[in-house]
Amino acid sequence: MTGSQRIGHENLKLRDPKYVATVERRIAEQSGLAPREIPPMFTPFRIRGLTLKNRVVVSPMAMYSCRDGMPDDFYLVHLGSRALGGAGLVFTEMTCVAARARISPGCAGIWNERQAKAWKRVVDFVHDNTSAKIGLQLGHAGPKGSTQLGWEDADEPLAEGNWPLLAASRVAYGPKNQKPKKMNRKDMDRVRDQFAAAAVRGAACGFDMLELHCAHGYLLSSFICPLTNKRRDEYGGSLENRMRYPLEVFSAIRAAWPQDKPISVRISAHDWAPGGNTPDDAVAIARMLKGAGADMVDVSSGQTTREAKPVYGRMYQTPFSDRIRNEVGIATVAVGNIFEADHVNSIIAAGRADLCALARPHLADPAWTLHAAAQLGFTEIEWPKQYLSGKAQLERNLARAAQMALVA
Ligand SMILES: Cc1cc2nc3c(=O)[nH]c(=O)nc-3n(C[C@H](O)[C@H](O)[C@H](O)COP(=O)(O)O)c2cc1C
Repeated sequence: MTGSQRIGHENLKLRDPKYVATVERRIAEQSGLAPREIPPMFTPFRIRGLTLKNRVVVSPMAMYSCRDGMPDDFYLVHLGSRALGGAGLVFTEMTCVAARARISPGCAGIWNERQAKAWKRVVDFVHDNTSAKIGLQLGHAGPKGSTQLGWEDADEPLAEGNWPLLAASRVAYGPKNQKPKKMNRKDMDRVRDQFAAAAVRGAACGFDMLELHCAHGYLLSSFICPLTNKRRDEYGGSLENRMRYPLEVFSAIRAAWPQDKPISVRISAHDWAPGGNTPDDAVAIARMLKGAGADMVDVSSGQTTREAKPVYGRMYQTPFSDRIRNEVGIATVAVGNIFEADHVNSIIAAGRADLCALARPHLADPAWTLHAAAQLGFTEIEWPKQYLSGKAQLERNLARAAQMALVA
């Protein structure tokens, strides 16, 4: 399977069906199934005490629709419908550990018991009505906080009511953004404890997995990225020093989170800017995370500096996941412009990631996974019992369309 996706899983089947059958049987066996031909994306994946039914993840996506950090009915319907839509794992958006940790006034939080109760309702819905698992992404906006909603002037400060910001150094995200306060030891202890308290609340809600957001220029990312971390103490300078605070936070949440449940860490594997982190640094970062007890690295990139010049394309961040998974020996999530079932099958079959997270495709189609299964002719996928007549019709229509295409 080529990295460029010119030859993907389905195409390879046409060229060498026996080879693909052998690969599929092997992946099934490695996933704990009896060896058989099954699209790799529909094999289960086990990590610590968690088993996911397939390899598709609803990537964390901020909905900017909370008031005072409260996830309301919109969140129940939004996350609930995506959990009904067949993905193995559904992530919450970056859920903030304090009111002043938010990106915008619409961001979700888990800094008080009222919010935790509201999240428990979402978690219970997913567990009671679907076979999906649900993960909580925890984060602190740091220097990118106090900004407008995603569909307004995103990343720019509020017209009024701005709150003070914290970061590794006094480096503003852009010309109009506030200069954050450089965190002192007291700030670092307080924020670390806010993360740990949020993890305890998340565990009480029954979330299946935790993800620590260390990407995209937010607080923990501001420590890791050399362009935003200008410190001269033991938290700045070398990569080892820049990782020190994120690792302290990681250790605090690992201690607060149930031992049988996994934690992933989302990183920016490339700053896409001169003097920034590169994929080589990302491999070293992943090694440190693995050493600290992280179970998985969710491999994103960029958004750490406005100077970045990313090179976009299909599956454009997957090469970073590939390197981390195979050089460090840690499970990874690939994300970024993965939008076809064939992309997911090719990535999993080639061992470039363990899971694939899809964000925008799940905004366009909450049932992306169910529809992907139907397109692949994989009829044994479980649909919600309430929707079974839709499954039968879709599969019939797709089979008929395939026949017509053959005749034509
Ligand atoms: C509306 C929206 C909100 C997002 N919010 C978050 C977030 O809260 N946390 C995060 O780590 N990434 C966030 N992302 C990034 C996505 O998780 C994902 O990494 C990115 O969109 C690339 O995947 P895609 O090409 O499948 O959309 C967001 C993306 C979108 C489109």
